[in-house]
Formats: sequence, structure tokens, C-alpha cells
Amino acid sequence: MNKLQLIEKELQELHQAGLYRSLLSVEGMEGTFVKIGGKKYLCFCSNDYLGLAGHPRIKRAAQEAIERYGWGAGASRLVSGNTTIHEALESALGGFKGTEAALVFPSGYMANVGAITALVGKGDIVIGDRLNHASLIDGCRLSGADFRVYAHKDMEGLEGVLRRSSQYRKRLVVTDGVFSMDGDLAPLPHIVELAKRHKAILMVDDAHGTGVLGKKGKGTLEHYGLEGGVDVQMGTLSKALGGIGGFVAGSKTLIEYLKNRSRPFIYTTALPMAACAAAREALKIIEEEPSRREALWRNVRCLQEGLKVQRFKGLKVPEVESPIFPIVVGNAKEAVALSRSLFEKGLWVTAIRPPTVPEGTSRLRVTVTSEHTPERIKTLLQALL
Ligand SMILES: Cc1ncc(COP(=O)(O)O)c(C=O)c1O
Repeated sequence: MNKLQLIEKELQELHQAGLYRSLLSVEGMEGTFVKIGGKKYLCFCSNDYLGLAGHPRIKRAAQEAIERYGWGAGASRLVSGNTTIHEALESALGGFKGTEAALVFPSGYMANVGAITALVGKGDIVIGDRLNHASLIDGCRLSGADFRVYAHKDMEGLEGVLRRSSQYRKRLVVTDGVFSMDGDLAPLPHIVELAKRHKAILMVDDAHGTGVLGKKGKGTLEHYGLEGGVDVQMGTLSKALGGIGGFVAGSKTLIEYLKNRSRPFIYTTALPMAACAAAREALKIIEEEPSRREALWRNVRCLQEGLKVQRFKGLKVPEVESPIFPIVVGNAKEAVALSRSLFEKGLWVTAIRPPTVPEGTSRLRVTVTSEHTPERIKTLLQALL
């Protein structure tokens, strides 16, 4: 077999296992609707939780930034790509997260890889939940540190690893705040206490909590009343903030350290200024319009109640703590078939399969946003019957 045939064979194997991935081409978006192949679909799989991706104020902010700065940053932040708008966004993010400073990365993925690989290396240990997001896992693997995993939310497991690892120079504990494929929350009060007791650095990925959880939308730490309890707070500008980019918030020392040591910060072109301006406007809207978050949570409760009453095909949908509803089907091909049957009824819910989720837990990951309505949620529930 030549090298291309080897690759083709792997693709065929993915097909056979129901794990082949292909792209759907969206031709236009309007609120919770998307146009694909000339047809309108009701989307229940976006992370635009507060409906900000198409907000007129955010579009205007991006357009004005393009007029003022142009489109591309032209170089890394440390060469010529740093602008006042990057710094204004970082200052706003630090204020929002209640930290001394923040640092923006071109994506959330890069923020996670960039923080972990800078903080730990050979001779250190990094410890994470088994269901952490792929970007955290990749950061852990790339760092060169010893990498240990504990069972999902298993605090005895975490404590065991911490007890047995006191010989390491640095220890880093990493967890999602809201688990991205299951929608449940990390037991942060317990994790904060364990990390403190064992003098480990704690990093929380709050990609799905930022803008969504807590009275003011500051995230999972605000939800638990744990502000100040975590050393490294990571978040994205790409989900509830409706744009693109990632960030790390923490002490001034941490941020200065990352500027000097984080390769995905140093060796890449800066996030475009328009994206920074858009994210800054999104933060203002989150602060000024709590009604968006209230609408989101009303919709979460509406779908939760509907699923409880309906007992969808005998599948159990757990009590959710976020706008993410995992409808676990099990088999990858069956999850794809279910997603397809919804698509035929005008609904878009992507099937999530391994390696994104563990083997045998393929699912539909339904997400609701502030822009859904009880009628649209009813449409989904009826399609699921
Ligand atoms: C938990 C979590 N962390 C990090 C990321 C990466 O963020 P981004 O999409 O902004 O790169 C995602 C989503 O993709 C996520 O779900």
C-alpha cells in the first residue's frame, strides 16, 4: 500500500465505524435560523448563548475598528501587532473576571495550550478531569509534564493523585468549569480547597460559563462564590461573547510570565483588532442587558421541563446545570441517524461522537440560547418524539 492508500484506508475505517466527519455549508444566519442548501433550519447546536454573534452594536464595533486599524494585525503582539484595542479588551476582561490582568489569544484552544505548556514542563505534573476539553488535554500532552487523569468529578481520585505527587517541582490541576459535552459543572469548591491544601496551581477553563453563569454572567466562579480562588482563569470570546478569541485572566505576574513564555502567544499573529472591539462591546452588552441571560435560563428551564415530561425514546436526559443538554444515544451510527432525522424535519443538532466523547456515549448535544422561544423549543421537542 502506498502512503495515500494508507490514509484512504483510515478514512474508510472511519466511515465504517460511523465516525466520518464532514462539513455542512451555512449560506446565511439569522438569529437561531441558518440557511443550508437554500433551506432554512432551526439551529440547536450553536454556542452563541446570548445571541450576540449578530448583534447590531457588535457588528458596528467591528466595522469601526476595521475603519480605524484595518483588518489584519500584521505581526505577533510582541513584534508590531499590539494595539490599544488589545490592551483595552484585556483591561475590560480583567475587570469582568475580577483579576489584576488578562491576556488575549487568537482562540480559546490556543489560550489553553498556551497557558498549560508555559506553566508546566518536564519535571512537573499536570492533573485533569477525564472529561476535560480536547484543548486542555492537548496542552497537557504537549507540555512534557507527567499527565494524570482522574475519573469525572471524582474528588477522591484527585486527592489521591495530589497526595502521591508531592515530590514534583510544580503541580497544576486543570478542569473545565462547565463540561462542554455534558453541560454539568465541576465541583469547584472542593477542587479549590484541594488545590490550596496541596499547594497546586489551579486552572479553570470557563469557556461555557463566561457570560452564562453567575448573577452578572462572570462565570462558574461567580456561580459558586469563589472569586479569587483560582490562579488561572481561562475563557473564550467565541461562545457567549459571540466572536472569536480566547483569554487567560489572573495575577499581573501570571500574565507577564505568559507574555514571556507562552509559545502560542509569542509565535502567532495577533487577534484582529475588529475581533477585540467586538468582544469589548459584547462585555458591555453582557453587563448592560442581564435580560439576555434571564431569557437564556428561561429557555433552559423550558427545554428541561419538556424533556422530563416527554421521556424521549426512553433516553435519560440528566438535570442540566447549563444550556448544554446531552442526549446520549450510545452508538455513533445511531446518533448520526437521529441527527439526520431531525435535519429532515428542519432542525440542526449535530451528532457528537468519539473521540470528542468517550466510546459508547455518542450523543446529540443540544444547546439553547436566549434567542430561542417556547414555540421553537416545542418544535424541537415534537421532532424528538
Ligand atoms: C471547554 C472548552 N474549552 C476551550 C474551547 C476552545 O475555544 P475556542 O473555540 O474559542 O478555540 C472550547 C470550544 O471549542 C471548549 O468547549
